[in-house]
Amino acid sequence: MEQVLYSSIARKGLGSDEVFTIIQTASRLNPQRDITCFLIFRDGRFLQLVEGPGHELDRLIDDLLGDPRHHSLEVLERTQIDARSFPNWRMKRVSRSTGQSALDEIREGLSSNPSGEAVMDAIDEFLETTAA
Ligand SMILES: Cc1cc2nc3c(=O)[nH]c(=O)nc-3n(C[C@H](O)[C@H](O)[C@H](O)COP(=O)(O)O)c2cc1C
Repeated sequence: MEQVLYSSIARKGLGSDEVFTIIQTASRLNPQRDITCFLIFRDGRFLQLVEGPGHELDRLIDDLLGDPRHHSLEVLERTQIDARSFPNWRMKRVSRSTGQSALDEIREGLSSNPSGEAVMDAIDEFLETTAA
């Protein structure tokens, strides 16, 4: 089981309807792929943490690299985990409306990951460099 954190830049002019479609597709496919995740969309940038079997993550990253709705995908962290940090999140959207409580849940979930602190640092940096 592995965890991957990546950031990417949304295609120029990507609408909230398209973000909604991404969320819908992911919610449908992730259970079949044994993937759990959360997605943050801020300031025209995406930050997503995905967890699951390594070969499924590789397949998803291949799909993501070919997806024209975003570009400049950069893997920030990839770590081996014993158990999922977010077993109940087939596709959790974290936004202004989910606020601090979702971030607290992320922090708590990551505390079971030996590299969780580095992952959380990367998330904090993303939040600091994108407008709320
Ligand atoms: C920012 C972003 C996040 C995405 N997250 C997921 C995801 O968690 N799971 C997923 O199956 N597809 C996700 N997708 C969609 C995939 O890129 C792809 O369209 C989808 O897996 C269907 O692949 P296919 O067309 O090869 O069947 C995401 C796309 C974007 C732009």
